[in-house]
Amino acid sequence: MAISEDFKRELKRRINIADIIGQYVTLKKSGRGLMGKCPFHGDDTPSFSVSPELGVYHCFGCNESGDTIRFVEQMEHLDYMEAIRWLAQKAGLNVPENDGDNRSYRLRQRIFEANREAARFYVQQLYTPEGKEALDYLTKRHLLPKTITHFGLGYSPKSRFELVNHLKNKGFSGTELIQANLANESQWGGKPYDRFSDRIMFPIIDLQRRVLGFGGRIMSDLKPKYLNTAETPVFNKSENLYALQFAKNKANGQLILVEGYMDVIALHQAGFENAVATLGTAMTKEQAVIISRHCTEVVICYDADEAGQRATARAIGILRPLGLNIRILTVPNGKDPDEFIKSHGEQGPARFRMLLNKSGNDVDYRLNKLRSSYQLDITQQRVDFLTEACQLIATLDNSIERDIYTSRLAEELSVDKPAIKQQVEKYLHIRQRKNDRQAQRTIQRSLTVPPLPLGTAQDGYHLRTANTEEALIALLIGNPDVAVTILPTLSPDLFVTSFHKMLCEMLQKRAAQGYDFAISDMSDTLSEQEVSRLAKILSTHPYEEDPASAAKEYISVLQEEAERLSPQKAASADDDTLLKEMRKLRSKKQ
Ligand code: UTP
Ligand code: MN
Repeated sequence: MAISEDFKRELKRRINIADIIGQYVTLKKSGRGLMGKCPFHGDDTPSFSVSPELGVYHCFGCNESGDTIRFVEQMEHLDYMEAIRWLAQKAGLNVPENDGDNRSYRLRQRIFEANREAARFYVQQLYTPEGKEALDYLTKRHLLPKTITHFGLGYSPKSRFELVNHLKNKGFSGTELIQANLANESQWGGKPYDRFSDRIMFPIIDLQRRVLGFGGRIMSDLKPKYLNTAETPVFNKSENLYALQFAKNKANGQLILVEGYMDVIALHQAGFENAVATLGTAMTKEQAVIISRHCTEVVICYDADEAGQRATARAIGILRPLGLNIRILTVPNGKDPDEFIKSHGEQGPARFRMLLNKSGNDVDYRLNKLRSSYQLDITQQRVDFLTEACQLIATLDNSIERDIYTSRLAEELSVDKPAIKQQVEKYLHIRQRKNDRQAQRTIQRSLTVPPLPLGTAQDGYHLRTANTEEALIALLIGNPDVAVTILPTLSPDLFVTSFHKMLCEMLQKRAAQGYDFAISDMSDTLSEQEVSRLAKILSTHPYEEDPASAAKEYISVLQEEAERLSPQKAASADDDTLLKEMRKLRSKKQ
């Protein structure tokens, strides 16, 4: 469905890219734009730039670029039209509807509605005579009425048809309920029946307060203990965290990561409202990135058993590279946080606070683990332990932190501190050299190759031209007043790269019709790759102090180059050969 120019202009007038992105990423002013940590890759230094002026973002680390619409598509997993609707809703606008191709959006909306209705139904059931056993169960587990309400806990009745009938009366179809995974399809050709029966229901809610799905706990010892909503069009458990909708507002820089629903609830009730849980899976990269958007420190508080320890090691490996501070809290006697708090009665919260205060960081944790795998009274083993410990300390970015551990290690093993320090520094150098090489490569990849004065090779010709073309396009889009005077006389044939030529023609057409050049206005004429390519061009070319004369200069470079190689007319170089040349050049330089 095509969206009218008028509508897009209105939408753009009402939304600011920085406001939208700012809901996901903390942005700080930097030059004429804003910088933050990239939400698309694990980013420990802010390399994500946003330009409110141009309406684009670009990450210098992972090379993601785009406009507001593309950002929403990526973050919310929406298609183009869905993203427009999402943004329109934020801006309080109605999208001119032309039904037909928005079926998947409609389905998602219906599933959210069905889930919300189901959550309400489950809550009501908890307070009926049939739900009494469930309510008693929660009370036995020391949950206060206000906690039960706060988390929207409910009860799914035994009969396999109550929810289905209730939702059908509300106008939902059997198919919708199956797609929401609230009902199972009957294998005998009968009616769909309730997926959850005789369980305590935990709704899973996202940051927009939509009900994504449920976890359902059985009250007996039967298996499975928890039955969860399977993947649906609205629910992907590797991309969500339980209770983040509450915890993010209480984080104050720190989140506590636990294993289970009940641990989260018990902690929140005890005053630790910054606790979240992964949804019964090992931590994923996506979850780690989400976590890193809401805090600077994570306290990992997994079970002390073997599986919990493995999960801890994995989580450290995923969270550390995101630049997060990590602490490990080990609950004593093999208890989980919920059991621990309960077992100390009124003292529970204070006891947990003590554990939290003395929880070491992940370096302590890893040093302890390492130490326990060596017999330190055997000289060779002491040496091996020290070597590994120095390597570990060398991975710390903070020099004060490194110094503290070096001192501690020296004291503990009665070894000369300078000797340990020297060893740590050796590993540090090795690591830094490796990082430098990596950074160099990233920069090379993300920046457009600068013009090269290669007189002989064809390469130089195309690169200089392509780079100038990019700069000119960026300048025209960024300075519409200059563009309107220049575009009418600019010949698209000056452009070597077909993509740039196409952009030039498009800008000319838009200028003639009196339209804006904002990238969000053009993004339905361009493919997704093209939008992202254009956004990258806009983000990587600096603002010009004097755009009018810069434009003239660029044009004269293009003319000069076109003449220099006139027989081979620029138009013969398509984007592919250009790319190949760039690659060739780079490999020569390395
Ligand atoms: P646990 O078995 O540690 O349960 O699973 P728990 O959280 O302590 O639960 P209670 O205290 O016995 O009620 C940790 C998490 O793993 C997922 C759930 O998210 C649970 O909270 N899980 C566990 C499942 O999804 N299915 C299961 O059958 C078991
Ligand atoms: Mn438990």
